[in-house]
Amino acid sequence: MFRTARLKPATALWVLTLVITALLTAYAAWLFYGTPHPRGSGSTVTSSITTITTPVTNTKHTTGSNTSATATNTASTRTEYSIVGNTVYLPLPRQVSNVTVEEAILWRRSLREYKDEPLTLTQLSMILWAAQGITDPARRFRAAPSAGATYPLVLYVVVGDRGVLLEPGKYLRAGVYRYDVMKHALTLVRDGDLRGELAKASLNQPWVRDAPVDLVLCAVFERTTRVYGERGIRYVYMEAGHAAQNVYLMATALGLGTVVVGAFHDDWVASVVEASKDEAPLYVIPVGVPKGVKHPSFQEIDNWYSSQRGEG
Ligand SMILES: Cc1cc2nc3c(=O)[nH]c(=O)nc-3n(C[C@H](O)[C@H](O)[C@H](O)COP(=O)(O)O)c2cc1C
Repeated sequence: MFRTARLKPATALWVLTLVITALLTAYAAWLFYGTPHPRGSGSTVTSSITTITTPVTNTKHTTGSNTSATATNTASTRTEYSIVGNTVYLPLPRQVSNVTVEEAILWRRSLREYKDEPLTLTQLSMILWAAQGITDPARRFRAAPSAGATYPLVLYVVVGDRGVLLEPGKYLRAGVYRYDVMKHALTLVRDGDLRGELAKASLNQPWVRDAPVDLVLCAVFERTTRVYGERGIRYVYMEAGHAAQNVYLMATALGLGTVVVGAFHDDWVASVVEASKDEAPLYVIPVGVPKGVKHPSFQEIDNWYSSQRGEG
């Protein structure tokens, strides 16, 4: 026999409190994960608009050799850039390579010797998008994962003289730029070729000076630690690794070379890019057109594993 349960007022109040707490928690979680984060700096649009349409170049690699061929992509996606005052609106991201993820992982290498050649603006655009670009517009989630979508990373780009080709014979002004994630744009922070200074701050590592472009990956730790406390510190370092690996893989897919540099004087690097006080530099990442690359094939890897196993 069941007895009809009658709740005492104190118990009923307790149950009601539990239900309200659960509802509030669910609502807070929905707010946090379900709504866009109002981040990303805006820059004032002022003067002289230059809008250029550039052809998209696909790099097709041949396994086991350093040969490459180019083909024009006829996709109807926007390929133009524009420069408005101090803001460079980058060509929008799109598929520009035929390299598979397996090939990019197989071919990824730290490459430190570069030809005296610029990157194209499209290549720079793709590298930045891979590091921190938007891949889920509804939630403003990015290409690299982030603990609680707190997005602590900030990217600067140090562009050398004739470091980035805009169109035949025309180069992006040398200087330090800040990547605006929400607009996929670069904002000029500082004029001039700062690669030599950045290399000195990076214990004179020559690849920092020689690359046409260096990324400087910084982090605002507070964005993550205010949610996760001290544990947030490790999350920020992990995230820097995710973003840097994306840079490696995109560079590989584009036939470019890169290396992550962790050995540098923090304050000096921060001062070169004029980072704000809360932005700590974590990586300097030179990117250039590599000299003498030879890609391994899966057959070589297969042979190596087979010999390790004592086969054949
Ligand atoms: C945290 C970290 C810091 C690094 N710092 C430097 C550096 O300061 N200079 C450099 O030339 N390479 C640096 N590297 C690259 C390593 O030397 C390189 O990854 C390693 O030699 C393995 O080669 P691979 O990347 O081609 O697989 C660093 C790598 C990591 C993960």
